[in-house]
Amino acid sequence: MSVDTPEELAALKAAGRVVAQTLRELRKLVRPGVTTGELDAVAGRIFAAHGARSGPQLDYNFPGVTCISVGDEAVHGIPGPRRLREGELVKLDVTAELDGFYADACRTVAVGKVKPSATKLVGAAESGLKQGLSVARAGATVNDIGIAVQGEIEKRGFSVCHSLTGHGIGRRIHEEPTVFSVAQPGPSPVLTEGLVITIEPIIAAGHGDVIEDGKWVVKTADGSLSAHAEHTIVIQDGAPLVLTA
Ligand code: MF3
Ligand code: CO
Ligand code: CO
Repeated sequence: MSVDTPEELAALKAAGRVVAQTLRELRKLVRPGVTTGELDAVAGRIFAAHGARSGPQLDYNFPGVTCISVGDEAVHGIPGPRRLREGELVKLDVTAELDGFYADACRTVAVGKVKPSATKLVGAAESGLKQGLSVARAGATVNDIGIAVQGEIEKRGFSVCHSLTGHGIGRRIHEEPTVFSVAQPGPSPVLTEGLVITIEPIIAAGHGDVIEDGKWVVKTADGSLSAHAEHTIVIQDGAPLVLTA
């Protein structure tokens, strides 16, 4: 969507705050032995306390409040009895709907002590997001984001899971435009003031191909470790407004 009124902006900010707070709380609970289902239950309680609902449940009937992906799972991991283990990376992807408006963000969190290579992968996803944010302004194109993100990830020796993308958001989770994290050939939509999108590099330590594992989970095809960083932003004339910070 594109934000037209101060009321819409206030509502989006409120949804973004619920997502940001949920991520802050969940990441504090990440430790060896906790199950992804326990983390998801906490997200459900925080959402309920704010009158928010799970975007994935509302829009897709996803079997969880949040998507929690571990290790080589890139996206759409289903929360459940899986216990996190020391050395793993867990991706907490949180999408809330509040009063009809959606916000979506993801952080990758280390479980206990992890290998230096895993820490570097997490840093690359965050840095790719940062580079994407730095070019996301009115007048630039969607493709400028892909170019910036891909350049940063590859500079650090990692790969973008090229088929997994950011997206427009606001009244639904997934709206136009598709926001690739890699450069695309051909013309690209121009970013306009008020447009609400996500930027979300999903990256791999190995190559960037992914495979579906069942109805929901998407994993790296080569079994390599994956990391993900995501914010929901409003395009402005200048630096974007980050709704999920
Ligand atoms: N948070 C996901 C995204 O960033 C959307 C998950 S919806 C699901 O696009 F139903 F597919 F899980
Ligand atoms: Co997300
Ligand atoms: Co998203």
